[in-house]
Amino acid sequence: MVRETAPRTVPTTAPDTAVTLCGIEMTNPVMAASGTFGYGREFADLYDIDLLGSFSFKGTTPKPRFGNETPRIAECTEGMLNSVGLQNPGVDAVISEELPALAEVFHKPVMANVCGGCPEDYAEVTEKLEIADAQNEAQRRPQIGWIEVNISCPNVKSGGMVFGTDPKAAASVIRAVRQKTKKPVIAKLSPNVTDITEIGRACEAAGADGLTAINTLLGMRIDLKSRRPVLANTMGGFSGPAVFPVALRAVYQLCRTVDIPVIGCGGIASAENVLEMMMAGAAAVQVGSANLVDPYACKGIIEELPRVMKQYGIKALQELTAQAQVR
Ligand SMILES: Cc1cc2nc3c(=O)[nH]c(=O)nc-3n(C[C@H](O)[C@H](O)[C@H](O)COP(=O)(O)O)c2cc1C
Repeated sequence: MVRETAPRTVPTTAPDTAVTLCGIEMTNPVMAASGTFGYGREFADLYDIDLLGSFSFKGTTPKPRFGNETPRIAECTEGMLNSVGLQNPGVDAVISEELPALAEVFHKPVMANVCGGCPEDYAEVTEKLEIADAQNEAQRRPQIGWIEVNISCPNVKSGGMVFGTDPKAAASVIRAVRQKTKKPVIAKLSPNVTDITEIGRACEAAGADGLTAINTLLGMRIDLKSRRPVLANTMGGFSGPAVFPVALRAVYQLCRTVDIPVIGCGGIASAENVLEMMMAGAAAVQVGSANLVDPYACKGIIEELPRVMKQYGIKALQELTAQAQVR
């Protein structure tokens, strides 16, 4: 149990929520996590998504994917299981349809989540996004800020988590992506390993500029009446508030092992959770399942952040992360 202590000082000026992630400035550290925010459009109908620090769009593969059979969502205590299986329209449709539509409603750099069944798939998606964005850049500013490499999806038969649970395989994907882009490359790590720092170090050595920790934990439920797994895919990824301590531990361990920034992800549902992640060393955070429970979750967290920072005597979020990293 984390003990809550009284704030040491109460700042008089407005708290500074700005952070920098791999050289890109963000007005606040809160991003929506991949797979829980689509390509942004749906949420833009609900609120002004420019108030987000950023968001990571749905895991994108070379060809369209229809995902796994249903049922592919199961509710659990303080969380959920999903086996969506990277349903997405494929990189070409993302470039021709999703990104132009997003440009109308989101005016900050977005994080591109890339996935595939082999390193060449990841390289292909990255290269296509890089070329399309270079054309964008000529017209206005680049639309894609970072490439997030999903080497941790538990819901696909080939690729995904297979890469994120072996240091050599993780490094091979990061190297393939690194060759295709000048943008910061962020490796998204799986918690389904004995030592997450081993994978983090391998990604850093292969050229990753940052890490996201964590993707979902491999889980399962059984229906008592049918005596069959609830998910058609038998197993799925567990996420939501219950995984927060696991994610926080992973971020804490990684921040003490690597010299690149770590994005904290897993179970974040409040401004207090954001501060806790940043005290563990996170440079920014991602909010996932909370968006599926309440589509206004990110908005609420961002609006709460200055008040909670004041409550705990925090003047600037950047200082919080810097202090955590040298401790
Ligand atoms: C329905 C669903 C779909 C997801 N799809 C992706 C994805 O396409 N790519 C990815 O890197 N992570 C994906 N994730 C993982 C989340 O981005 C996040 O890492 C994980 O859910 C933990 O955060 P949370 O507890 O806040 O949800 C998905 C999660 C959920 C619940």
